[in-house]
Amino acid sequence: MNKRTIRDVDVNGKRVLVRVDFNVPLDEENGAINDDSRIRATLPTIKYLTGHGAKVILCSHLGRPEGKVVEELRLSIVAQRLSQILGQKVVVTEDSVGSDAEEKLAKLKDGGVLLLENIRFYPEEENNDPSFAKSLARLADVYVDDAFGAIHRSHASIVGVAHYLPAVAGLLVEKEVTILEKILSSPAHPFAQLAGGAKISDKIPALENTVDKVDYLLIGGGMAANFLKAKSYEVGSSLVEEDSLDLTLRLMERVAKNSAELLLPLDVVVAQDLGAETEVKTVPVENIPPGWKIADIGPQTIKRFSEKLKLCQTVFWNGPMGIYELPQFAEGTKAIARLLASLDATTIIGGGSTAEIVDEMGLADKMTFVSTGGGASLKFLSGKTLPGLEVLLDKESSGR
Ligand code: 3PG
Repeated sequence: MNKRTIRDVDVNGKRVLVRVDFNVPLDEENGAINDDSRIRATLPTIKYLTGHGAKVILCSHLGRPEGKVVEELRLSIVAQRLSQILGQKVVVTEDSVGSDAEEKLAKLKDGGVLLLENIRFYPEEENNDPSFAKSLARLADVYVDDAFGAIHRSHASIVGVAHYLPAVAGLLVEKEVTILEKILSSPAHPFAQLAGGAKISDKIPALENTVDKVDYLLIGGGMAANFLKAKSYEVGSSLVEEDSLDLTLRLMERVAKNSAELLLPLDVVVAQDLGAETEVKTVPVENIPPGWKIADIGPQTIKRFSEKLKLCQTVFWNGPMGIYELPQFAEGTKAIARLLASLDATTIIGGGSTAEIVDEMGLADKMTFVSTGGGASLKFLSGKTLPGLEVLLDKESSGR
């Protein structure tokens, strides 16, 4: 990675503003944190900074409060969890900027940690408002971006603030970018990309940018319907994004031209509706009945995908193979997750729902790397600039 990191700046006795992504999934009923991986992933950076005598000011969003205070999205619950796993008290401010934050900061000792209240309670955050960014910058001497999951957003605490302070990457951002850069530049072969999820339009840009690198492209999930339709199969009432059919065809042509192999489902689990009581059957892809929709990959597909994945040195997986939230359609995703966990290969899990699934199944430690950024990792793999990365100091620059 060609960006300076926290190792390249002197942080001793300095106030260091660290943008983190503590946008953790919360239980809909009791508001508890369902998965704290994103909090744990920032520990190396926080510990490095406190260990080097910095006053650490953490800043994060949680959910999408749309510029208003939403009580359920306050960060106190995150501060509690962070205090537990860090083994030190993390004070949370009432507001992200202003007198309370300044007073608490004035009391913070070297090696202490302060968490600013949900930055998205301010509309200025998502608008990347320059004077708001300046107010944030006034709190600190150095800016660190460790929020890989939000690094594709042009927001004040990610992009704006970096214009007013020396801005460097945290250790999580460094790790994520280094791993994804390797996928784009020189993945160990055979390299398989395994894509799933409902919407193909989210995935197409990343697939287009990596298609010339892959040996195997495996497609599951609802988006497989697009590929099957492009090959003239009847897909019942499965969601097909008509606008993406041309792109799908072009992608298939490029795979063929590169002598790579495209693997589509051989059989699928289908249902007429997605309720718990609905009738479910497994059919070959040639026989998807009218009015039924694809809800998971079938056993023949799991077998075929597994055979190919076992041959690979590198696998990048993003997107479930079926409607994972419903147990009757989760088997394909679970089988693939178990298989990847057993491989002696570099296995990289794109963030978002795929990361949550792997974590929920207790398999995260068995993968080489689980990204904390769903949208961010796809944008990176699509070859597009990540605004939050772009604004950080280059390794060879003279600095601010
Ligand atoms: C995420 O969960 O993908 C990141 O935290 C970014 O959140 P956002 O999609 O609400 O910007």
